[in-house]
Amino acid sequence: MVSRRQWLRGAAALAAAPFVLRPGRNLGWAATTAPLPVPSLEEGRLVGGVRVFDLTIRRGIHDFGSGRRGPAIGIDATYGGPTLRMRAGETVRLRVTNRLDETTTLHWHGFHLPAAADGGPHQRIAPGTVWTPSFRVLQKAGLFWYHSHLEGSTGRQVYFGQAGTIYVEDEEEAALPLPRDYGVDDIPLVVQDRRFDADGAPVYALDPMSIATGYVGDVAVVNGAVSPHFVARRRWLRLRLLNGANASLYRFRFSDRRRFHVIASDGGLLDRPRRTRALLLAPGERAQILVEVRPGRPFRLEAEVLSPMMGMRRRGRGRILRRLRVLDILPEPVLDPGPRPPRRLVWLPAPQPARAVRTRRFVLEMGMGGPMMRHRSRRGGRGRMGGMDGMGGMGGMGGPAGPGGPGDPGGGDPVAGSGPLPGGGPGRRPMGMTFTINGKSMDMDRIDEVVRVGTDEIWEVINRSPMPHPFHVHDVQFRILDRNGRRPRAHERGLKDTVLVWPMERVRLLLSFRDYTDPELPYMYHCHTLEHEDAGMMGQFVVVA
Ligand code: C2O
Ligand code: CU
Ligand code: CU
Repeated sequence: MVSRRQWLRGAAALAAAPFVLRPGRNLGWAATTAPLPVPSLEEGRLVGGVRVFDLTIRRGIHDFGSGRRGPAIGIDATYGGPTLRMRAGETVRLRVTNRLDETTTLHWHGFHLPAAADGGPHQRIAPGTVWTPSFRVLQKAGLFWYHSHLEGSTGRQVYFGQAGTIYVEDEEEAALPLPRDYGVDDIPLVVQDRRFDADGAPVYALDPMSIATGYVGDVAVVNGAVSPHFVARRRWLRLRLLNGANASLYRFRFSDRRRFHVIASDGGLLDRPRRTRALLLAPGERAQILVEVRPGRPFRLEAEVLSPMMGMRRRGRGRILRRLRVLDILPEPVLDPGPRPPRRLVWLPAPQPARAVRTRRFVLEMGMGGPMMRHRSRRGGRGRMGGMDGMGGMGGMGGPAGPGGPGDPGGGDPVAGSGPLPGGGPGRRPMGMTFTINGKSMDMDRIDEVVRVGTDEIWEVINRSPMPHPFHVHDVQFRILDRNGRRPRAHERGLKDTVLVWPMERVRLLLSFRDYTDPELPYMYHCHTLEHEDAGMMGQFVVVA
């Protein structure tokens, strides 16, 4: 750790650097924010060649720092969970104990595994019981994560902390000169935003508007701490970024606009580092970046939160709702050099769309009717709704059902409505709003798509709504073929499991279903804006022989 004197020197350097922020506001900044909590690194234990992890989900009181404290959900922690380290090719078993007083699930986001081990809405863990899935790690080295996936309540359980990261390692990655000293120059950052009440407790209170936009907070919470700081001892830092927000789109930048290198997407390393000054991540997406720090020169990782109200036109996309202070980085006066970024990373085969046996189409729509419109006019129409540009006409657009459509208005799920944590919200199917894929809201008893194992497919995702939706597919890592016919940008050309689809955009994905069949148990595809998912923007597919 660094001394208080060094921090003050850092603060003084910050004040001398006009590009960062107004100096007056930042004097003494490091002393006032929490140090970045680094989740404990969990290696599990080897039992007969199987790596076994014990995870216990429980409710507790968490200290977010900066005077914020309140009820939360943790996995062997008061908020969030440990980083699980796994090696490609080995078999893991997870013993998940639910000590909450409500049902939950735990999903391994990004993993290729049997549907029964997926941890989606069908693998419910009743209070006081243990769920023990086992699977082989068939991923490339990368950053993955686990989180609640309870039907209708994913948003609330994740909001209160039920999420953590997974590091997968493999030989290809191990051979590269990359920073990999956990917590020193290789740091997981679970970036979220939260709202706190006057007592400093986190608040999750849904209303029709926050369901429509997704629930957005005004304070950054990183690994469970409000806008923390990190003391850097190495010249190159590898930051593993997870957008773990319920709904916010984050455009990450540094306060001085310095360049950094993107080295990995959701499912693994890119072919080579890609230089940029800004990187957009939607909920569920991950990236790994390398950033060079200068001795004794503090700077800040920021996230511009883009307005979810985009409208149908392209120019609505960049509007910034707020800037979040994600992480203050204080380099020590003398730094270890550490490895320099390599020029090449891994070999990524070019996608082969010609091999696809079929194309499926997924149309994302939001339908809004009565109560939503009443809510709007009561508050005085579009001017008051936090920038509803492009929302004109939303009342009449979208899904086939307005009020009285599919779903159970008012939230019939007792688990969703009566959770022990504050802010259960109005339930999973808000009256008058529909969130659909191909005109249908999620139905646990309906299989929407049947995929043949051993085939490649093109999935064409079309957004016919005025809001962006991060489309996520379980079981596979896919490649993005094109966005409205155009090749994706360099950092999106690697392995992906979540892709942001802008209003009126058509994105084509190439998916390969290599193994694991189950005619009964489905995998999910859904919008990763958790309030949209909970409200029904989700479907199910099975992979069959
Ligand atoms: Cu990260 Cu279906 O979820
Ligand atoms: Cu997932
Ligand atoms: Cu959505």
